[in-house]
Amino acid sequence: MSRLCEGRVCVVTGAARGIGRAYAEALVAEGASVVINDVDADAVDLAVEGLRALGGEARGHIEDVSTAAGAAGLIDAALDEWGRIDAVINNAGITRDRMLVNLSESDWDDVIQVHLKSSFLVTQRAAQHWRKLSKSGEGTDARVVNTVSSVGLYGHAGQSNYGAAKGAIASFTITAAMELARYGITVNAICPTALTSMTADVLADSEDARLGLLDARWVAPAVVWLVSEKSADVTGRVFVASGRRLAVAEGWHRGPTGRAVGDPSEVDGVIRPLLAAAVRHADEQGDIPAGDTGKELVEELARRFSTGDMQGAMALFHPDFRIEQPPTLPHGGWHVGQAGMAEMGAAFGRHWSRTIENPRIFGDGETVVQVTTQTWTATATGRSATVDVVELFGFADGRISEIRVFQRDTHLLLSLLGASP
Ligand SMILES: NC(=O)c1ccc[n+]([C@@H]2O[C@H](COP(=O)([O-])OP(=O)(O)OC[C@H]3O[C@@H](n4cnc5c(N)ncnc54)[C@H](O)[C@@H]3O)[C@@H](O)[C@H]2O)c1
Repeated sequence: MSRLCEGRVCVVTGAARGIGRAYAEALVAEGASVVINDVDADAVDLAVEGLRALGGEARGHIEDVSTAAGAAGLIDAALDEWGRIDAVINNAGITRDRMLVNLSESDWDDVIQVHLKSSFLVTQRAAQHWRKLSKSGEGTDARVVNTVSSVGLYGHAGQSNYGAAKGAIASFTITAAMELARYGITVNAICPTALTSMTADVLADSEDARLGLLDARWVAPAVVWLVSEKSADVTGRVFVASGRRLAVAEGWHRGPTGRAVGDPSEVDGVIRPLLAAAVRHADEQGDIPAGDTGKELVEELARRFSTGDMQGAMALFHPDFRIEQPPTLPHGGWHVGQAGMAEMGAAFGRHWSRTIENPRIFGDGETVVQVTTQTWTATATGRSATVDVVELFGFADGRISEIRVFQRDTHLLLSLLGASP
């Protein structure tokens, strides 16, 4: 079987240890030749020796990639050694964590320089090379893989410098992808989680570390795929990878929108309902918090159902969730837990398909009612009816624990199943 990156030449910054080293090992195992860049000369030598011992093609490059000379030297190293370059992986990084009020100017500058400036410099240098190839008529199928962080996408107190750098790299990724597509270059980013020297203080004692889910090898397969020819049609994306999950991070988009306002005294009145309707920022895991009140939970449930996010919707239910349907319907009665829900869904699906529209959600605290307009179509007869369905919600441990469904139109719905109304 041919390997995913056979013949591809990659440079990986900050690859002497940690996640970058795991990338280099995985890339070499898939047939790539790799330049291991880092500022730590001894660690680079060890990493290169290790890769060669595995039968891989590797060479070292010991320079600071946040300088123009270092970035240029890195691209030249690949060209000198193998006469080509197919991918750059901007991975080098440092942290200088402090609360914003205590952050020194140099802690700010150093972090922005190592993450953001190096990503720009290395990408630009490689892109200039690929643009030349593309203009000379040679086909290019090149890759840039940047590195962001949950801190940059979702925020984390004490890391404003690091978060700003990583958030900027996510934005840089999107714009660079737009600019470079014409030269056959894709630009994507990876948002990893792994136990490394950078994260040992916070992750070493975690449950995920004990379970082996924080091994950097869990992050590498997505990067191998991004480097390979298989991902040629994918650009401008941010991927989340760890031993817990592989996911696509979704970006900013315009949310609830109101009329234009020219008078400052009117802003509050227009903006408050928009804020209430807006999706919350994701938490540190990237999940959108369901909300503190029952009403917010039900609103979030309706939103997830309407966007087809079934897995996200199910996550809002308590493990001991139960639902009561009108007893006269074929799927009527109480259904308990995930298994009960599945049985209920199967019983429903034997008779009907349904569309749900216009959720209206009322109440506060622990009393929440949702009214939806539902169109039920009987599978056997193809006949439909539109009815209002009223659901009363109960809550436990911050999740939805109970739904009681009230429908006064059950006779109408049952009549759809038979030959005559
Ligand atoms: N470990 C995680 O959970 C995690 C989470 C999100 C993002 N990241 C990012 O992943 C990347 C790799 O992190 P890691 O956890 O493997 O960290 P690490 O500290 O183990 O490795 C980073 C490497 O970058 C090198 N480096 C630093 N400055 C450099 C420079 N100017 N030029 C060249 N090399 C330089 C370091 O010497 C080090 O070997 C970083 O960009 C980091 O911000 C890591």
